[in-house]
Amino acid sequence: MEKSMSSADTKDIPSDIFPDESKIPEEFRLDGPVVQSEYLVNGELRAWSGDVMDAYSPVCIKTGDGYERKHLGSFPSLGETESLEALESAAKAYDNGRGEWPTMPVAGRISHVLKFVDALSRKRDEIVKLLMWEIGKSLKDSEKEFDRTVEYILDTVDALKDLDRVSSRFVIEEGILGQIRRAPLGVTLCMGPFNYPLNEVFTTLIPALIMGNTVIFKPAKLGVLFHKQLLEAYRDSFPPGVVNTIYGSGRVTAPPLMESGRVDVLAFIGSSRAADALKSAHPKPHRLRSCLGLEAKNAGIVLDCADLDNAIEECLTGTLSYNGQRCTALKTLFIHRSVVDEFMEKFSSGVSGLRCGMPWDEDVKITPLPEKGKPAWLTELIEDARGKGADVVNEGGGEMLESFFRPAVVYPVTEEMDLYHEEQFGPVIPVVPFDDLQTAIGYVENSDYGQQVSIFGTDPQRIAKLIDPLVNQVCRLNVNSQCQRGPDTFPFTGRKDSAEGTLSVSDALRVFSIRTLVASKMKDMNREIINTIVREHMSNFLSTDFII
Ligand code: G3H
Repeated sequence: MEKSMSSADTKDIPSDIFPDESKIPEEFRLDGPVVQSEYLVNGELRAWSGDVMDAYSPVCIKTGDGYERKHLGSFPSLGETESLEALESAAKAYDNGRGEWPTMPVAGRISHVLKFVDALSRKRDEIVKLLMWEIGKSLKDSEKEFDRTVEYILDTVDALKDLDRVSSRFVIEEGILGQIRRAPLGVTLCMGPFNYPLNEVFTTLIPALIMGNTVIFKPAKLGVLFHKQLLEAYRDSFPPGVVNTIYGSGRVTAPPLMESGRVDVLAFIGSSRAADALKSAHPKPHRLRSCLGLEAKNAGIVLDCADLDNAIEECLTGTLSYNGQRCTALKTLFIHRSVVDEFMEKFSSGVSGLRCGMPWDEDVKITPLPEKGKPAWLTELIEDARGKGADVVNEGGGEMLESFFRPAVVYPVTEEMDLYHEEQFGPVIPVVPFDDLQTAIGYVENSDYGQQVSIFGTDPQRIAKLIDPLVNQVCRLNVNSQCQRGPDTFPFTGRKDSAEGTLSVSDALRVFSIRTLVASKMKDMNREIINTIVREHMSNFLSTDFII
């Protein structure tokens, strides 16, 4: 086990938050450390005997003299050499678009993906348990993440069948016959985030694969060990080299890949600073297709005509689901001054009523934070706000013990405070009172981010007046509802520093492919050639076959 933080990180202590080892329910105990000592390259699980990285849980265990983060296991700390091996393998499997995978008929690729989803589904219990331990996500949310991911993959298969049906016909325009399909782009580097280490990985990795790209996948810094469960499934479900996995520090493994100029698609969920560094390392950035999910600082705007009970309910889940560690979380609340007192009273008591505990506790809402040093950083944000005239208004808000941080509602927050601008990505809720709606609109307009916004009110005319200016600042405006990504068939994207590219079940298929066509002037000779190719099934691309 690891002493997780210095004693300077520990302030007021919520009682009995971390368990004794013996109090962990039997069904959630780990059999032993998860030692991941292999990585997948060229269809082989390669044994790694070099340096490793240790994985620790945000869940601390009570010991005789304090608390220690539970040691969960280890995974390879690969270097540049292994990273470039993975690249070589992915490039070979793609083979300039001539490989088995990129030229395979769509039905064939679908059957490989279905084989994989079958293997994935059989690992549900182990993966859910490791999600809880590795990133501190509650049992309910971990199960939801898993089930949503499987559903997403199956929906992706259906969406591709639809796309394939539409693309299987010929079009004739201006005397030219054409067949237009979507073709893969090449080698794809997929890098996911720690907060949705399964779902957000597969919402890029699966569309990339199913469209015929080959993939190098690197998990985030946290939420790595459960991928051990999937290495054999990747190996057994896909042709060699189609999926390659690398582990270790992103700073060591990712730059050589980008600098090689051989990565065609970058699918990255993380900070805009890291994304910019990766993109600019590519020697020919115009050759790179990027699909990025980045920071956000979504505002919740509560008008004086709001139904406060509904607004409070939505703001509670919007700000604090998974401890506020969602890119779509509501990260600043703007409350009209005429209702702010009532809102604050009810909202603060709502926050106090959220159950704090371990991921397996029933109905738990607030759990330990996986990022090291996060409680200390959140405290700095609060102290900065305190120094500039705000305070924590809910009882016990901001108390912490090791990785646990009791949610803090900070009021009144102003533009001078760091909390107004910084994406806290954690359980601290800045509240800004306003008299003039322009305060809230100005915040959205001047923000570096442009993902979503929520408006709470009952007057249709006033809501309509807000919709028009704000839809051109963000990419989703939620009326009397918290910000969120789902349903996954809805487009998910952002403006400014929040995203590049649009993801949804069907949009992702487009992101990871390019329209390509075969065209020919309608002359007898050409007609005959095309007819023969189609009739004799000579080409996988030029074909009228479709999947039912
Ligand atoms: O962290 C960003 C996630 O994509 C948010 O998804 O709104 O469904 O929690 P969610």
